[in-house]
Amino acid sequence: MSVHKEVKKVTTHQLQEMKRRGEKISMLTAYDYTMAKIIDHAGIDVILVGDSASNVMAGHETTLPITLDQMIYHASSVIRAIDRALVVVDLPFGSYQGNSKEALQSAVKIMKESGAHAVKMEGGREIKDSIERILSAGIPVMGHLGLTPQSIYKFGTYTVRAKEEEEAKRLLEDAKLLEDYGCFALVLEKIPASLAEQTAKSITIPVIGIGAGGGVDGQVLVTHDMLGMTHEFSPRFLRRYLNLYESMSGAFQQYIKDVKSRDFPNDSEQY
Ligand code: KIV
Repeated sequence: MSVHKEVKKVTTHQLQEMKRRGEKISMLTAYDYTMAKIIDHAGIDVILVGDSASNVMAGHETTLPITLDQMIYHASSVIRAIDRALVVVDLPFGSYQGNSKEALQSAVKIMKESGAHAVKMEGGREIKDSIERILSAGIPVMGHLGLTPQSIYKFGTYTVRAKEEEEAKRLLEDAKLLEDYGCFALVLEKIPASLAEQTAKSITIPVIGIGAGGGVDGQVLVTHDMLGMTHEFSPRFLRRYLNLYESMSGAFQQYIKDVKSRDFPNDSEQY
């Protein structure tokens, strides 16, 4: 008799319980089936189908060009791979700002066509209507404050945000507003660790940081960066767990050599 063991899926409610218990939340990005399968089987809590796919997968300089349909393609590949993780998908630039009806349509399209579990949106009070309309349809929303790459042309650079008192105060207020609107969690990107810790302590929803120090409720990294597949980008917050760029380059060079020298395929590698 085979015993089928049910995998307990991570829910938004569980993430909030984790914060209450003081258990840190782990989150990584994925954009394709194979990577998502490995990450999910490793036991990650949350997979983010980030609009960083625009940089990592498509080679764009910013996250702005990626489309809703492209996000859905990535998200549905990820969803087919996972057994346990909660899958959150970024609403791409232009699909929710300034028009709550369009925001709802974008979120519904993502949920229907990819099977994702939640969406993420960049911004605070200025996107209140869009957040509330999406939430009213029963779609969980994760917020994102601090460095919000969809606004890169407003900021001008990717440097640390909210170092000045006024911006820090606004960020803290926005975090509380996002909790009040009903967001289930919040990403804080590239802000001073003390401000991130203060924010995490002031709200009851989990705060997941990237470049926001250790005083928050969880951490997220871009998978291709933490694996060292990318190497032109080395911010202080990035811990590289592998140097896959070098390992993969070495493997590709060896393969080319083996093909050219006729070493590959050998007698046991053919029919
Ligand atoms: O798009 C992304 O990968 C993100 C993370 C950096 C949080 O938003």
